Amino acid sequence: MKDPRTHDVASSYALWERANRIIPGGSQLISRRPYAFSNGFAPVYAERGKGSHIWDDQGVEYVDYGMSVTSAILGYADDVVDDAVIEQIGKGATYSLNSEREIELAELLIDRIPCADMARFSKGGGESCAIAVRIARGATGRDVVLFSGYHGWHDWYLAAGHLKEGAFDPFALPNIRPTGVPKALEGTAIPFPWGELEPLERLLEQHRGQVACIMMEPILLAIRPPEGYLEGVRELATRENVVLIFDEVTTNFRYGANGIQDFVGVVPDLACFAKAISNGYAMGAVVGKRWVMEPAADMFVSSTYWSDLVGITAAITTLTEIERRDVPGQLADFGERLQSGMQEVLDEVDLPVKISGMPATPGITFTDPFDADESKRLNALVAQEAAKRGVLFNTHPRHSSAHDDRDLGITLEVFREALLVTKDAIGRNAVDDVLEASLAPAIIPRPTVRSSDSG
Ligand SMILES: Cc1ncc(COP(=O)(O)O)c(C=O)c1O
Repeated sequence: MKDPRTHDVASSYALWERANRIIPGGSQLISRRPYAFSNGFAPVYAERGKGSHIWDDQGVEYVDYGMSVTSAILGYADDVVDDAVIEQIGKGATYSLNSEREIELAELLIDRIPCADMARFSKGGGESCAIAVRIARGATGRDVVLFSGYHGWHDWYLAAGHLKEGAFDPFALPNIRPTGVPKALEGTAIPFPWGELEPLERLLEQHRGQVACIMMEPILLAIRPPEGYLEGVRELATRENVVLIFDEVTTNFRYGANGIQDFVGVVPDLACFAKAISNGYAMGAVVGKRWVMEPAADMFVSSTYWSDLVGITAAITTLTEIERRDVPGQLADFGERLQSGMQEVLDEVDLPVKISGMPATPGITFTDPFDADESKRLNALVAQEAAKRGVLFNTHPRHSSAHDDRDLGITLEVFREALLVTKDAIGRNAVDDVLEASLAPAIIPRPTVRSSDSG
């Protein structure tokens, strides 16, 4: 294993320059831009991944806490999923005809997900959300979508960026402009603050008879919903005859093998899946109650690769393995040990950092006396020092079920060293000198969260 401490990531950044000359934006996903971990210190390109580790373009090994933006829930290149996929590839990935495997996946989802009477497929999270919105609009005959949080790149969603200043709380899409999205869509998607019922109720009253659906993540940024909040949203949706959609793309199966609905105890009308549903293979799904889903038979919702058997096989196998291995239990167990290990380090190093989130989705936050700007620099410093030491880590590490005791030991030691460097820099008033990584622009959507419970 090459030592990341002596590793020069320059070749990765040379590739990034090369990409930017011919790929607008350099990458297909904002979260794969160089600042995902540490701009200048973490590599930008990987050549392979196995389990909880990835190897960069120079073959240097890292413990990864991104896991392909949480998709690789079982770890990279999981043998069971890959064997099933390879077997399917030998028989062809799509045909002129349908495959029984589609029905198998639909039955599996219907069996597992409380709201699921019927299912449709897609190739990704944004696509699942766009399909769900189309179906909700088609089933209700109404146009307006009330949403909270991030739901992909499609027009229905970015239309919110056209709302006149003052009417649009820019919390949902800071620095993301609706360029290329028809202005005619203004007013068709309206954000509401997650965690509060009253603003949502007001919007529903203001737009009575026009709202097709409420689109939201039931758990946002690893924060538990305030007591009674989701039940209240459910009641409002039922009262106003509006389709309630849970976007489970990122919560996925981290909290339970049946998705988030069981965990929060509230059943929506539709739910959107992607990412971890297929452990890194392209796949997504929309499931929901028959009264909403059935009308989709008469809507134009159709695409060649939605029947792709690589994704479908990966999803069937991944969902089966998530349950068989008790992946949510494994994630909670590793996460608890990571959180308590980090707390021990913090007690020793004595820095004002709060361990937050739930075990499956832990987080760290610099607290008082550091303000938001200082915290951003300190977070970047911790990520920089971790990347130098072979751990791709940020303020919201996302582990997989492949992360093991050895990874935990490496991570906690690296966390300790990174915090000691940070403490020393703070003590010498030299954070700006020690922080060499450039900071991320504020482009990743960060919704306003109004909740007293951040754990
Ligand atoms: C909650 C949520 N919805 C939708 C998406 C979009 O998914 P994709 O990038 O697969 O289109 C994401 C991606 O991060 C997400 O977190």
